[in-house]
Amino acid sequence: MRLPSSWLLGVAFMFSLASHASGAASPSNAANVNDEPIQQGEYLARAADCSACHRPPEESGQPFAGGYVIASPMGDIIASNITPSREYGIGDYSEAQFKRALTEGIRADGAHLYPAMPYTAYSGLTDDDIHALYSYFMHGVEAVDEPTPETSLPFPFNLRVSMAAWNFLFLDDAYTHDPEQSDTLNRGRYLVDTLGHCSACHTPRNALMGENNDRYLAGANVGGWYAPNITSDASGIGNWSVEELVQYLRTGHVENKAQAGGGMAEAIEHSLRYLSDEDLHSMAVYLKQVPPTAIGPAIDVSQAPREVEPVSPATLEPPRNDDPQAMSDGKRTDGQTLYNGACASCHQIDGQGTDDQFYPSLIHNTATQGANADNLIMSVLQGVHREIDDYTVAMPAFGEQLNDEQIAAVSNYVLSQFGNPELEVDAARVTELRQGGPTPLLVKAMPWLMAAGVIFALFVVGLIVFLIRRKRR
Ligand code: HEC
Ligand code: HEC
Ligand code: HEC
Repeated sequence: MRLPSSWLLGVAFMFSLASHASGAASPSNAANVNDEPIQQGEYLARAADCSACHRPPEESGQPFAGGYVIASPMGDIIASNITPSREYGIGDYSEAQFKRALTEGIRADGAHLYPAMPYTAYSGLTDDDIHALYSYFMHGVEAVDEPTPETSLPFPFNLRVSMAAWNFLFLDDAYTHDPEQSDTLNRGRYLVDTLGHCSACHTPRNALMGENNDRYLAGANVGGWYAPNITSDASGIGNWSVEELVQYLRTGHVENKAQAGGGMAEAIEHSLRYLSDEDLHSMAVYLKQVPPTAIGPAIDVSQAPREVEPVSPATLEPPRNDDPQAMSDGKRTDGQTLYNGACASCHQIDGQGTDDQFYPSLIHNTATQGANADNLIMSVLQGVHREIDDYTVAMPAFGEQLNDEQIAAVSNYVLSQFGNPELEVDAARVTELRQGGPTPLLVKAMPWLMAAGVIFALFVVGLIVFLIRRKRR
């Protein structure tokens, strides 16, 4: 039974929050450095995308130096320095402490980590892989002797101890090898669930910010972007072939189908593009058999849902990209004019994109034919950026030039002409996404929690946790 012990530990810890006891043991494998686990560890660190978060705030900084700010609904969380620096990094972590941080979310000094560190996914890491990762971080990464700023969330989220209760609810059973399944499926599940932590974005969260396992990979909002349903249902990736999935994971671009922006572009740029063909294949095979969760009508972008009415260029106002002022004065809220001025130079007047599809079709596109229009809005607000081995993808951001009404207007034009005409965008949605997406219930409930007093609230949460767990048995 996990609650009472970690709960008590946590409460005890609460009173010693200020005293950062180091309690560090020295690395156990200083002697006998073997290259093989280091190289294996480097590959695993890529697959687990450690560098995506543990990076410095500026591009030029050292890998794994930390300091990068992760915006969470509860406030900003700073990624730690995980270089082998003894003073500012994890140089003093023993392998056992390293394992605990990765799989249980507990720092060497005993403090709970916030789940912005995906330990709920990493809890399934095998001991061999933890050993390889540890070897890599101790011997394959250069130490950076520079401090990172402290994370300071607003009360009551600054009480790290509340994570003990959270873990009790949401730190679920880890990945285990299933001998009934093929090696490919086991490997695919390990890569998707444990290393790739795909569910951190693609599984919706409940009121307490835990992943809702009943809707595993069925689609969720992440910072305004929408990580779509990637279960095998036709409203997910049911109409994708294994080859298309592999190509998407490697490059973020499947012709006449989908492109990766937002957090997906980052996952591809920092992690997925480095994986072996065999590993990407295993992931695709695994995804194709994830039990289907239907979230709406089937999505099949190869079938344009209807004839696109041909638009004669003669009837159109001349493109206006030579005159950004005309757009930014906010007076133009005519979607067609905005589209022809801001988008048609790349995506073409008829929305078909360029012949080579470097500038993609907006007709055969999951961003315009999907379950909602959030990724269409977000790509206009923030643009699309991805660096792949031999080329750079860059759609400019229009968030500065166009106001929310204009973005709604151009989105509605795109949807009605090229995309799913059932979808409609209003300016309020654009405003909401501009601010980082819908606010989770936990944050909305904060004034109430504050009033109730945090100790009382934590006690209630603890009690609920206890009752839910008991009911589950
Ligand atoms: C999605 C973002 C994210 C990813 C991916 C991630 N981390 Fe973290 N990690 C964090 C954040 C944020 C913290 C600090 C959390 C806090 O302060 O509570 C952290 C903390 C840690 C710590 C504790 C360090 C300390 O003493 O402060 C270790 C060790 C660590 N991460 C290792 C890793 C390794 C190894 C990987 C890859 C296998 C990894 N992390 C991947 C976000 C991430
Ligand atoms: C940081 C958040 C994040 C993580 C982690 C992430 N995704 Fe995504 N994913 C997204 C977003 C956002 C999109 C939509 C991108 C777009 O259309 O611009 C997406 C799109 C996709 C798509 C295309 C779906 C469609 O209908 O267009 C697939 C397939 C996919 N992700 C698979 C994965 C897999 C497999 C993993 C784990 C290895 C993963 N994703 C990890 C956020 C994420
Ligand atoms: C300078 C060229 C350029 C302009 C102008 C441009 N785009 Fe794009 N657009 C791109 C590129 C490049 C991509 C991504 C291609 C890739 O990922 O391979 C893209 C992708 C997209 C996507 C898919 C995004 C996703 O993440 O799934 C949508 C939707 C889109 N653009 C809509 C628009 C709209 C609407 C406008 C006008 C407001 C516009 N674009 C203006 C170049 C452009």
